[in-house]
This record gives sequence, C-alpha cells and structure tokens, in this order.
Amino acid sequence: MANPSCLLYAFLLLVAFQSTMINANTVIHTPQCRPVAASSNEKIIFSVNLLLYQAQFLLHASIGVGINDVSPGLVQGPAPIGATTANFSNSVRRVIEEVGLVTVGHLRALVQAEILDAPITSPLIDVSAEAYAAFVNVAFNVSTLTPPFNIYANSPSFVAAAKLVTGIGLSQAVGLGVLRTLLNDVINSTLSNRTSEVVNQLGGCGVKAEGLIVPLQLGAENRTTSNVVPADVNSLAYVRFEREILRIVYGTGNATMPGGLYPGGFIGSLNRRIRDLQLS
Ligand SMILES: *[C@@H]1O[C@H](CO)[C@@H](O)[C@H](O)[C@H]1NC(C)=O
Ligand SMILES: *[C@@H]1O[C@H](CO)[C@@H](O)[C@H](O)[C@H]1NC(C)=O
Ligand SMILES: *[C@@H]1O[C@H](CO)[C@@H](O)[C@H](O)[C@H]1NC(C)=O
Ligand SMILES: *[C@@H]1O[C@H](CO)[C@@H](O)[C@H](O)[C@H]1NC(C)=O
Ligand SMILES: *[C@@H]1O[C@H](CO)[C@@H](O)[C@H](O)[C@H]1NC(C)=O
Ligand SMILES: *[C@@H]1O[C@H](CO)[C@@H](O)[C@H](O)[C@H]1NC(C)=O
Repeated sequence: MANPSCLLYAFLLLVAFQSTMINANTVIHTPQCRPVAASSNEKIIFSVNLLLYQAQFLLHASIGVGINDVSPGLVQGPAPIGATTANFSNSVRRVIEEVGLVTVGHLRALVQAEILDAPITSPLIDVSAEAYAAFVNVAFNVSTLTPPFNIYANSPSFVAAAKLVTGIGLSQAVGLGVLRTLLNDVINSTLSNRTSEVVNQLGGCGVKAEGLIVPLQLGAENRTTSNVVPADVNSLAYVRFEREILRIVYGTGNATMPGGLYPGGFIGSLNRRIRDLQLS
C-alpha cells in the first residue's frame, strides 16, 4: 500500500480542488449552480458533514455499530435517527462495512493532520427507513409505495437509494459508485433510474450521469482483509457544488431549508454563509 501521508495529501487536494474538477459537458452555469467562495478548510468541514453521515449510515447498516464504537471518542453530538442493520448477504455486508471503515479512516486522518479537533461535532442525521422512503415516494410520484419502501430490506434497495448520500459530492471519493460494478447483479435498475432522476431534479443543475467513482484508500482500520477499494484520484468524473448537495440531501430542493437526511442542517461556516446570504 502507498504511504498513508501521501494518500492523505491526495485526499486533501481532492477536497480543495473538487470545485474545479468538472465535466464540462454536464455543467450548467446558472447562478444557482455556481460554487460559493470558500476556503479549503471550509470546504473540508462542509464535506465532513457528508463523511460523518456516510460512516454512521454504512456502519450501522452493515454491522450495527456507530463511529465511536470503532473509533472511541472520534465524534460527539446527537445519535443518528433510525439506525438499522440491513438485510444484506454476507458479501455485500463486508463491502459496505469496508466502505464505512474507510470513511472513519478519512475522518481520523483529518484529526491526525490537525485539520479537525476530536471529538468532531456531528450534525443531526436521519438514517431512518422513513427518510429514504420519502425520497423514493417522490421518485415514483406517489404518496406512499405499497408496500412502503424500506432501504434496509435487501441489497438492491440499499444500493439504489444509498446514492442519495454516498453518490454525491466529496463522499463519492469513498462512495458506492464503485460498488455498482461489484454489485451489478443486485442493482434494481428501475429504482436506480428513478432515484437518479430525483437527485438530478432536487439538485437543479442538470443531468449528471453517475460516473464510476473510484475511492481513495487510507486503510480500512485493519479490520478487514477484503481489498475492493482501489486508489485513483483521476477517476472523479463529475462534481456537485455545495448548494446542489444541500438541495439534494435536505430533500427540499432548497439549500437553506433543512430536512430529509439532515433535519437540523449542515454545520460549519460555509453552510452558515449559504444560509445567511439565502443562497437557496
Ligand atoms: C404525479 O402524479 C400526479 C397525479 O397523481 C400527476 O398530476 C402529475 O402529472 C405526476 N407528475 C409526474 C412528473 O409524472
Ligand atoms: C432478506 O433478503 C433476502 C434476499 O434478498 C430475502 O429473500 C429475504 O426475504 C429478506 N428478509 C427480510 C426479512 O426481508
Ligand atoms: C425495484 O424497486 C421497486 C421499488 O422499491 C420495487 O417496486 C420493484 O419490485 C423492485 N424490482 C425488483 C426487480 O426487485
Ligand atoms: C432513466 O430512464 C429513462 C428512460 O429509459 C432515461 O431517458 C433517463 O435518462 C434515465 N435517467 C437516468 C438519470 O439515468
Ligand atoms: C494497523 O496495523 C498496523 C500494523 O499492524 C499498525 O501500525 C497501525 O497502527 C494499525 N492501524 C489502526 C488504525 O489500527
Ligand atoms: C428556501 O427556504 C427559505 C427558508 O428556509 C425561504 O425563505 C426561501 O424562499 C426558499 N427559497 C426558495 C427558492 O424556495
């Protein structure tokens, strides 16, 4: 494996420059789709909101534990709403667990590099089946699917709906994009197509095809030997800017109106500026 400090550096570069790595064919430069001026540090802290979500969500879904169970004292703040262990096959469970552990590794690396202080304060996050059902109901244009959508019911449901948080922004660096190739046999293409549509619609900045995003490897906490997560910074195929991410994960299509996966909104000064300037 490559030198960890090298990889940390690559990771931070990715964070700092994500706004410049754009697939020119898909970006619409209307005012609501432009980036908000911010320092690298502010962008990292913005991204930490996504990393914290991703780590809690994937660890609870795969092995029924949270960040502090695998890395004591790393985070503080409210417990996630609605954490549930999913009905995965063992092979899917291992992959999801590994991505969760890699994400914890990224958070810890930010603390070790003294970019963040431990414990990292977490926003309130909602990982409940109901929160995801609300997105899927919109995707299928119904008030409630019959039976109600349950992201935790099986692997195809999880993989298709998890992209709401793991398929966008920085978190794509460790997100489930890579799993699409591994899990082709568990993809529900109708569901996947509809959730992509709703993501693009909430984002309000055009159609961004889901590129295959290959994550960075900082080491999966020495807890697993499966090594499905290769390192390649150059494969970042598209990007969503901060306000677009907020519109999606809030489920409101409005970057200043929290809801959905973050009932209390993001934390950090970049988010505060977006709110104070009403950059919806
Ligand atoms: C959603 O359903 C309503 C009626 O239930 C219909 O009027 C509307 O056109 C549908 N929207 C889309 C985008 O299909
Ligand atoms: C768990 O997933 C398996 C395989 O997809 C499925 O056959 C089974 O019904 C699921 N169990 C529950 C309780 O949903
Ligand atoms: C795909 O997901 C939708 C929504 O949950 C569900 O209605 C449909 O039965 C699923 N298709 C397959 C093949 O599992
Ligand atoms: C969803 O499927 C429709 C019909 O096949 C297609 O036109 C559309 O581009 C797909 N959307 C996404 C986001 O893949
Ligand atoms: C992983 O294992 C190596 C060698 O055994 C050790 O030096 C390192 O501290 C471990 N890392 C974690 C996060 O436990
Ligand atoms: C977004 O939400 C804020 C309140 O949180 C509201 O004042 C504003 O009008 C909304 N913007 C749009 C475009 O709906």
